[in-house]
Amino acid sequence: MTASAYHAPVMVREVLAALEPERGGRYLDGTAGGGGHVEAILEAAPGAEVVAVDRDPDAIEEARRRLAPFGDRVTLVGANFAEAVDRAGIEPGTLAGALLDLGVSSYQIDTAARGFTFRSQAPLDMRMEGPGAEAEHAADILATRSEDELARIFRRYGEEPRARRLARTIVERREEQPLETSDDLVSAIEAVLGPRMTQQDRARIFQALRIAVNREIESLEAALPKLRDALQPGGVLVVISYHSLEDRLVKLAFREWSADCVCPPGLPVCQCRGEALGTTLTRKPQRPREDEVEVNPRARSARLRAWRKR
Ligand SMILES: C[S@@+](CC[C@H](N)C(=O)[O-])C[C@H]1O[C@@H](n2cnc3c(N)ncnc32)[C@H](O)[C@@H]1O
Repeated sequence: MTASAYHAPVMVREVLAALEPERGGRYLDGTAGGGGHVEAILEAAPGAEVVAVDRDPDAIEEARRRLAPFGDRVTLVGANFAEAVDRAGIEPGTLAGALLDLGVSSYQIDTAARGFTFRSQAPLDMRMEGPGAEAEHAADILATRSEDELARIFRRYGEEPRARRLARTIVERREEQPLETSDDLVSAIEAVLGPRMTQQDRARIFQALRIAVNREIESLEAALPKLRDALQPGGVLVVISYHSLEDRLVKLAFREWSADCVCPPGLPVCQCRGEALGTTLTRKPQRPREDEVEVNPRARSARLRAWRKR
């Protein structure tokens, strides 16, 4: 498979401008995917090396193939990025930069057997670790969660106004027959949203389920402070998100780390750390340029934020 057939990396120019690999040193890419960003970093600067992490074994395989020419400048680690710093034995204060390019790759979406797609007859799997993983897959969640829990997933992660009705429909249907394929879920969505259901509605609801299956928000929450602590002074953390919940989480974390005082309002004397840990480099999230979106429509919803440690 060609590199861009696996996944075309987004906002490469902006990622390089923020990470400044020409400074040299050790970088961590927590979402290596097909290795596009890793390759760009390694090509930009002979003095840079990268720890390339992904929880998907297929991604690690693809990255191994693509990044072979860089020899021991790349270390591949199959892990959740929330555990990557510990798994790779990275000492605090040693990374020149870290990158998270959240969500799923084109390969994952386009490979029907992985079950991320709403195309007909795909299994409801959606685990980033792949079908061999032990964790619950999407069909398990639809089969076992209460109506309340399902409604919360569709509301919180999918911003679906009819979340409660969709949850109830799923619970009613599973009493007759378990939901096992994309068609089963699409048919439940159709029953609730009616004939005006759009491709975007389906994508939003499938995405909500995927976020729950992979505990994506929890992973990001756990990873951010670990990556911050792993940065050296002057080190930069870049996060590209595709979902408003993720982007908000990153925005609030960067804001908190960039504030001199994080005491609750009204304290007579500052009792917190009393100084900012670093600076937010992006007051507003950067968006992909129009010419990039034209060539790669999947870049459309990307939002990039960057933070530099002091
Ligand atoms: C948008 S793709 C990244 C593409 C990559 N930047 C490239 O250039 O090809 C997201 C990748 O992150 C991985 N991923 C998502 N969440 C992860 C997590 N919590 N830990 C490790 N990998 C994760 C997915 O398996 C997927 O391969």
